[in-house]
Amino acid sequence: MRSSYEKILAPSILAGDHADLKSSLREIEAAGLSWVHLDIMDGHFVPNLTFGPQTIKAMRSASSLFFDVHLMLDNPDKFIDAFIDAGADQITIHIEPDYPIAETLKHIRQRGCKCGVVLNPDTPAEAARPFLAVCDIVLLMTVQPGFGGQKFREDVLPKIETFSKWREELNLNYRLEVDGGVDLKSAGSCTKRGVDTLVAGSAFFDADDRKLFKATVTA
Ligand code: DX5
Ligand code: ZN
Repeated sequence: MRSSYEKILAPSILAGDHADLKSSLREIEAAGLSWVHLDIMDGHFVPNLTFGPQTIKAMRSASSLFFDVHLMLDNPDKFIDAFIDAGADQITIHIEPDYPIAETLKHIRQRGCKCGVVLNPDTPAEAARPFLAVCDIVLLMTVQPGFGGQKFREDVLPKIETFSKWREELNLNYRLEVDGGVDLKSAGSCTKRGVDTLVAGSAFFDADDRKLFKATVTA
């Protein structure tokens, strides 16, 4: 069930210092990490607002980290070019809103950016099946999106196993990412079920020893 990919920890900058995002990027780099997870919220699809392409562009000029951009938008298809032009390396889009998902994934790829789908905790795995062949990554929310610092939802574990199984059975090669309430305990439950990419906001930024946190969750 375990993934063949090198495990990656992608700190979510939502838990960083929004008055000084540059220093939060430096802290991620100092911990020897290569990805940063960037949560984009529109106040409609989720009940919270964060930042847009202009902020991504400013962070892009300050860091060479891999920008894993998570769009929590009602109409992500309207913003793909803006986020790619701003410097996104990967864009993940939710499958719950009503917009042309397959075409949007294709467009992201055609622009040379990695793409993937995101499922909320209560969205059944089958809903993503039509898109898997073109996904570089599948992101499974282990909290209801909108806020950091929530509790990991164990009821998503069977869905993780399903995507792991499908990856093998269908001979697909998407990375499997989880996001929400990931900490030292829940990370282990995920990686042993095939997760290879872990988003952690509060658990990373609150860790006493971030390098040890990284080494433990990606062991
Ligand atoms: C929630 C975001 C998550 C969140 C993770 O909507 O998508 O990336 O920032 O934060 P923690 O790890 O604190 O749950
Ligand atoms: Zn996220």
